[in-house]
Amino acid sequence: MLLHQATTWALRPPRLSRFATVLKQSMTQNQNKQNLPSVSLANFLPNSTQSGEVSKSRGFVLCDEAFQTLLPAHNYKELLLKLPVHWIRAGEHCKSIEKAQEVWRWLEASRADRFDTIIIIGGGTVMDLGAFVASTYKRGVKFILIPTTLLGMVDASIGGKNGINFNGVKNSIGSFNKPTDVAVDVEWLKTLPPKELLNGWMELTKHALISNAVLWDDLQNKSPYDESIDWNRIVERGTEIKQHIVDSDFHEQGERKLLNFGHTVGHALESLAAREGQALDHGFAVGIGMIASLYWSAQSVDEISKQNSILEAAVTLKSLLKTNENCDTWNWCIQGRPQQLWHFMLKDKKNQASTVLDIRLLEIGSAEWDCPLTQIDFENIWNRAF
Ligand SMILES: NC(=O)c1ccc[n+]([C@@H]2O[C@H](COP(=O)([O-])OP(=O)(O)OC[C@H]3O[C@@H](n4cnc5c(N)ncnc54)[C@H](O)[C@@H]3O)[C@@H](O)[C@H]2O)c1
Repeated sequence: MLLHQATTWALRPPRLSRFATVLKQSMTQNQNKQNLPSVSLANFLPNSTQSGEVSKSRGFVLCDEAFQTLLPAHNYKELLLKLPVHWIRAGEHCKSIEKAQEVWRWLEASRADRFDTIIIIGGGTVMDLGAFVASTYKRGVKFILIPTTLLGMVDASIGGKNGINFNGVKNSIGSFNKPTDVAVDVEWLKTLPPKELLNGWMELTKHALISNAVLWDDLQNKSPYDESIDWNRIVERGTEIKQHIVDSDFHEQGERKLLNFGHTVGHALESLAAREGQALDHGFAVGIGMIASLYWSAQSVDEISKQNSILEAAVTLKSLLKTNENCDTWNWCIQGRPQQLWHFMLKDKKNQASTVLDIRLLEIGSAEWDCPLTQIDFENIWNRAF
């Protein structure tokens, strides 16, 4: 993994500048499409107009604080120097009403108006906060997402969901609202720590398992730490899968529920971890959840060859998660307490009444949603899987 040399950014005071028309054109033409590789930075900068006409929209940047010391991808350095920037410390804690108020205040003090555009640079947490703020400031202003984590690229930047956590409940306040553009540039991944690569890899794996056996074939024998990975290709395929699902069911009435594969157990583990003060990354928890769901799927499938491929996938995920570095987290997750997990699973917002409704594979690359899962079944599956 290549690591850029840490550099401290000497930022000039904010200068409010006019966007060039070219950005407006780019937004209309590419509405909600992923841009691979990135949208040219030149489009966002002042005085970069191609037609001589200058747009009324000014840019305000919300950026992950990590890029005060880490070098950002080269296309974005100028953006951070030439537009007003508000820095956000990433992490679940930034998805709060207090942080949202801080950003609203900054926008107001900077006299941002409803024609302006908020450019959000960061992982899933900064994007969830930024998109929520943009969707509510002056009843909603335009925003552009520039994801910097693998999870942000293949998952959080797609699908128009934003939100903050409230009263201890994750993503409980927010909305569905699409960005005007998403600029994906895999160069950001060069500085991403291995554990964050693993988090994103788990979501990529999920996309493949629920709807694309070809991508699964590609991922199955790789790990996110392989030097030879063609990130452009893999990220493009991962984003296409999510985009396709979201396009067919934007408000999550049916097919979009598939994206929750592994998440019912994963969220239960995260809630248990939060209660016990145990550090647990979302991607790792989802990985454990997918292993349990794969065992459940295998027992419901009749064809032996399909059963075997599903169980092989579970073995692949185990080998990615159960490593020397992650051995404590793995052991914490798999200790035998399915009853406690069940208690949290019942609270999942996908459920109806007291039945847990979950996602199950029919085969690799195809899945069904709203499958009822009983406590007895879950306990048996858990004991078999771990
Ligand atoms: N809106 C959606 O549809 C959606 C979908 C999936 C997940 N999410 C949300 O995404 C969040 C998780 O996102 P995440 O995993 O990106 O976490 P994150 O934003 O907290 O980023 C993880 C860590 O990586 C650092 N980082 C970011 N980019 C970096 C880079 N290029 N180099 C080095 N370090 C970098 C951050 O500073 C942070 O410490 C969760 O809150 C989850 O709920 C939202």
